[in-house]
Amino acid sequence: MGKDVIIACDFPNAEKTLAFLDLFQGRKPFVKIGMELFYGAGPDIVRQIKARGHRIFLDLKLHDIPNTVKKAMTVLRDLDVDICNLHAAGTIPMMEAALEGLTRPDGSRPLLIAVTQLTSTDQEALERDLLIEKPMDQVVMHYAMNARKAGLDGVVCSPLEAGKVHEICGADFLTVTPGVRFADGDAGDQKRVMTPAEAKRVGSDYIVVGRPITAAADPVAAYERCMKDFTGEE
Ligand code: C5P
Repeated sequence: MGKDVIIACDFPNAEKTLAFLDLFQGRKPFVKIGMELFYGAGPDIVRQIKARGHRIFLDLKLHDIPNTVKKAMTVLRDLDVDICNLHAAGTIPMMEAALEGLTRPDGSRPLLIAVTQLTSTDQEALERDLLIEKPMDQVVMHYAMNARKAGLDGVVCSPLEAGKVHEICGADFLTVTPGVRFADGDAGDQKRVMTPAEAKRVGSDYIVVGRPITAAADPVAAYERCMKDFTGEE
């Protein structure tokens, strides 16, 4: 899998999402479907976007007992998406069960990546709410190693952590990074941001970009600018 830009399709319904994708005419960007769209539009939106020829990252962040996650992953595998995810906090047995559930009888499966710590959790919340007293950086790298041990393909992380994740877990362990903004853009609620060119430099494999593309006056131009800065492709 080469470097690519994944557009976060954070829309409330199928109509808005498909109208947005229509703007791209012949192009088929890699898209991310999150909880809002999946719960609002149902699994059929995944089938519709897949039928249009897009690759899909289904960002549902599963976290439950191993048996429940395994069964849910078996349902998701039949949607034929490219990437699924879960919370590494569910522990190694949960991640192993997820992989089992996701694997088809012929041995093929979507890629499976783990959320380490959400970027909305800071050191204070880690200590106060979760009673985790280690530094955030150490917690993120430990969770990434757990994901690797369980046999997962990579993690979702901040671009600021991508280089270190590769150092610790190997160059082939995927880093999928949100928190990307153009240098002249609005950061919004993202606190620690990088430009597409910086994310490329630190070794992110995929960048997840939402509002800088979805809310742009010209989303196709914004996507093309992102692709050019991140992959070098026009
Ligand atoms: O609009 P924006 O570019 O901020 O969108 C980023 C996307 O990545 C959103 O769908 C958000 O939920 C997701 N995300 C994130 N930070 C994480 C995990 C996921 O921003 N740690």
